[in-house]
Amino acid sequence: MCGIVGYIGKRQAAPILMAGLHRLEYRGYDSAGIAVGNKGTLKVAKCKGRVRELDELKPQRFKGMMGIAHTRWATNGEPSDRNAHPHCDSAGRFAVVHNGIIENAAALKEQLTARGVTFSSDTDTEVFAHLIAMMDDGSPLENVVSAALRLVVGTYGLAVIDAARPDVLVVARNGSPIVLGIGDKEMLFGSDSAAFVRHATSMVHLDDGEIAVVRADGYETRKLDGTSTVKTPSALVWKDEAYEKGAFDHYMRKEIGDQPEAVRRTLGGRLDARFQTTHLGGIELAARDLLDVRRIKLLGCGAAYIAGATASHLIEQLARLPTQAEPASEFRYRNPVIEMDTLYIAVSQSGETFDTLAAVQEIKRRGGRIIGIVNVVGSTIARECGHGIYLHAGPEIAVVSTKTFTCSVVALALLAIHLGRLRDLSNANGARLIKGLEALPDHIAAILKREDEIAQLAECFQKAEHAFYIGRAAGYAIAMEGALKLKEVSYLHAEAYPASELKHGPLALVTSETPTVIVLPRDDLYRKNVSTIEEIKARGGPVIAITHPGEAHVAFDRSFEVPMLEPELDPLLLNIPLQLLAYHVALQRGCDIDQPRNLAKSVTVE
Ligand code: F6R
Repeated sequence: MCGIVGYIGKRQAAPILMAGLHRLEYRGYDSAGIAVGNKGTLKVAKCKGRVRELDELKPQRFKGMMGIAHTRWATNGEPSDRNAHPHCDSAGRFAVVHNGIIENAAALKEQLTARGVTFSSDTDTEVFAHLIAMMDDGSPLENVVSAALRLVVGTYGLAVIDAARPDVLVVARNGSPIVLGIGDKEMLFGSDSAAFVRHATSMVHLDDGEIAVVRADGYETRKLDGTSTVKTPSALVWKDEAYEKGAFDHYMRKEIGDQPEAVRRTLGGRLDARFQTTHLGGIELAARDLLDVRRIKLLGCGAAYIAGATASHLIEQLARLPTQAEPASEFRYRNPVIEMDTLYIAVSQSGETFDTLAAVQEIKRRGGRIIGIVNVVGSTIARECGHGIYLHAGPEIAVVSTKTFTCSVVALALLAIHLGRLRDLSNANGARLIKGLEALPDHIAAILKREDEIAQLAECFQKAEHAFYIGRAAGYAIAMEGALKLKEVSYLHAEAYPASELKHGPLALVTSETPTVIVLPRDDLYRKNVSTIEEIKARGGPVIAITHPGEAHVAFDRSFEVPMLEPELDPLLLNIPLQLLAYHVALQRGCDIDQPRNLAKSVTVE
């Protein structure tokens, strides 16, 4: 979603800010803008559209050694030039960029209008710019911003500059991330560290309710009431090169290709061949605590929820613990029962998804035990959970998640083995699964080498406007993920169904132009799936099977075989062709693969 970047130092701010905006493009946005301060004046440029259009629009001479910039994802007010951030007060002295939603904006706007303020946008953010201007009594900028923030109800990650105070920037956080980047006699900040990774050597995450005063030579943090807070900078985890697309046309394709290495990193140092178990120091739960666990609940949104759904089968099989996945976005609205012997697990790539964070906070508030499965180190969900398993998958830039889906399931497989080995999972089975996990990266790499075959499967979707994705048990979870990928990047309507449910309704929609993709492992349910395929074929529906080698007991229209690994880990391999399938369908349909319409990478609003 919206992105923020800021700079103050001895260099020209605009090129650094524009590069930062390019880095944040992956989050999804509809307009962009920049403001720099120079010799008591502010220069502002903003427009609807892409960052490259802002680059063209922005005057050549756009000098100033401090500034802020923004990519906006419309929430209040349509995407337009006038609604793009930064927003300024009437005198053009203060500029504000803001992520989040000011809930009492309408009331504040009314009060400001009554005092003669004219608004030039439909946004909630502009209210804040006028509020600061009105409250400015000449005291330090952080005091003025704090006073204004005390009147605001809502969520924000925001940054303010004042033309008359060119040596300071103020940022604040409440529900929307802000990270400070510490450079060499210069300071930066962003809504995520991607914005400044090239220039900073360490970073500091603000907490909710904190405000930071940022100068070229350092920063101070405090609460809104003025009490100082102490922060310890941490090293930047991902270097600049990790954000590069390399020789690939799209980040999605690059990240699908990253998977063998990403999985190796998720596994790194965590397999214990000696005791046929896994090491998970980050969960900080002793064997005794884990033995007290009677139930597992996995929470996440979108692909993170589906990763939980996929792994729930694995955990139940290996640890024999009742395990259930639920969309985090639904969880807190149904007054859930929080059980003390349940282990709650939040799954999130970004670690910033608002709905998942809210579920974590609700569980904590009610005394539940929670760990996080998170990719971004130091992110809000990771910090809120306190304990968990980092994926170490590297940055995921494409809006759709691919490698972090796989790595989340792998991390949960590690947990499943760990829990299983504390209970009834035998040495032999522990050893078998560990060997399976070790072999996983090479198997993924082998599937990726057969991309041409999958590109040919994509041709089946040329005339389609609808598709079914079906499977049973963990295969159904993989079907859900396959359908989500196809929807997101190709805009085809894809519906995932448990194969067993097809005959209870959706079969009515099967036609010769509605392909069905079936996730078809050679497991105990193979024969049942074959019956479902026969039902589809009897209605003239084309069937594409993602399956294992062996004699086919039914004629598919197309199929792709993945190697058999271990039954519990097979879903991970069956998913890889579905990622490539979605990619190639989108490619053939000419879609904007890395930034699909209406989607954002890190959904930090409700
Ligand atoms: C799907 C996708 C989204 C995210 C969801 C959760 O491809 O990318 O559905 O999975 O928004 O995001 P995180 O994992 O960052 O919490």
